[in-house]
Amino acid sequence: MVAAATARWPTPFYLTAWEPIDLALRDLKQIVIQRPLRHWLSVKTQPLKPLLRRWAEAGWGAEVVSEYELRAAVAEGFKPEKILVNGVAKHTWLSRCLLPGLNVHVDSLTEASHIGSWASEFNWRLGLRLHVDEEFDPDEPQFGGQFGMTGSEASEALDLLRGRGLTVSGLHFHLRSNVDSADSFRRALSEAAQFCDSTNWRPVYIDTGGGLPDPGVTSNFDVAYLSDLGSAVDEFISKVGSVQEVWMEHGRFLTGCSAVLVLRVLDMKDRRECRYLICDGGRTNHALISDWESHPLCLLPEREGPNVLTTVSGPTCMAFDRLARLDLPNDVAIGDLVIWTHAGAYHLPWETRFSRGLCRVVWCRADEDLRLVRDEESFDDWWGQWP
Ligand SMILES: Cc1ncc(COP(=O)(O)O)c(C=O)c1O
Repeated sequence: MVAAATARWPTPFYLTAWEPIDLALRDLKQIVIQRPLRHWLSVKTQPLKPLLRRWAEAGWGAEVVSEYELRAAVAEGFKPEKILVNGVAKHTWLSRCLLPGLNVHVDSLTEASHIGSWASEFNWRLGLRLHVDEEFDPDEPQFGGQFGMTGSEASEALDLLRGRGLTVSGLHFHLRSNVDSADSFRRALSEAAQFCDSTNWRPVYIDTGGGLPDPGVTSNFDVAYLSDLGSAVDEFISKVGSVQEVWMEHGRFLTGCSAVLVLRVLDMKDRRECRYLICDGGRTNHALISDWESHPLCLLPEREGPNVLTTVSGPTCMAFDRLARLDLPNDVAIGDLVIWTHAGAYHLPWETRFSRGLCRVVWCRADEDLRLVRDEESFDDWWGQWP
């Protein structure tokens, strides 16, 4: 696919595909739960037009956290009942998107007091985002983060909304990215069950958010993860009793492996400490995530020389622009392709125009020809932003 795409379009580009997402969906069947399981696509993870369209056609829902994402979901064919609005401070923009039948998760008391009148007028299905102890910043675990409501805030929000005659249907939490085991979900679900008991409230759905790792990047994902998650959710359902449906909002588990970033080696420098490959794309413009994640990387053509320590750099004038530092064959040549894999989650949304425009995006499906779905930005696109 990469060879076919490079025959048609110059690098750098993202090559994106539907089939890996279909395979990931099939893997999600290992989560066996006694209630229907509804998968939402976390749109911010991979805001890619043909993907949204395909996901809508498949009948699944879009989880959005901004006005633009919501508008994109509508534009790509999601009915409001198939759109779930999450995120912070949405009372400041939801007034511009008053669609009947949306699903909305209240994230704060401020939101609860603003959203009530829209929710009754537009028949929104409401849920609460609970801030659980298992939700923390992995870099600084002493900080829980700005999302959701503590138990006492959520209880107040529940009273406030119910006091206005509204039904609150769902309970939601999202722990963080790359949750390393189903045990974290189990603990969060147990706290959620305690919340239901303490408020004497019985939600009709539970939404465990995202957080499943991309198995091709995270080594600690084992086969039991998904089945353990299913049993943790089942325990919750048995404890709480009222739950009719389970929701999950997938980002990297679904989309991570659905794209690669294709670059070309432009120049090389041999230095005492290592060899530097200078490519036409890299961390600064296309793969910010390489700052904290190493993804498998391959070369085209395949090279077989002895390995040398190599730094794969991008083209920007920044030492930060380092996609990877690893052993690579010493016969890599100028003009070779470097393929950075697992570029399907958190790459497009974090892409930058740093000294350049955004790059091309190619989409492929097994039953279709390769398609350029976004062209590269030109100088005029880049500089013309200044009137
Ligand atoms: C509310 C919510 N749901 C789902 C996701 C998707 O997360 P992941 O990519 O870890 O699956 C995120 C990511 O931050 C999120 O904030």
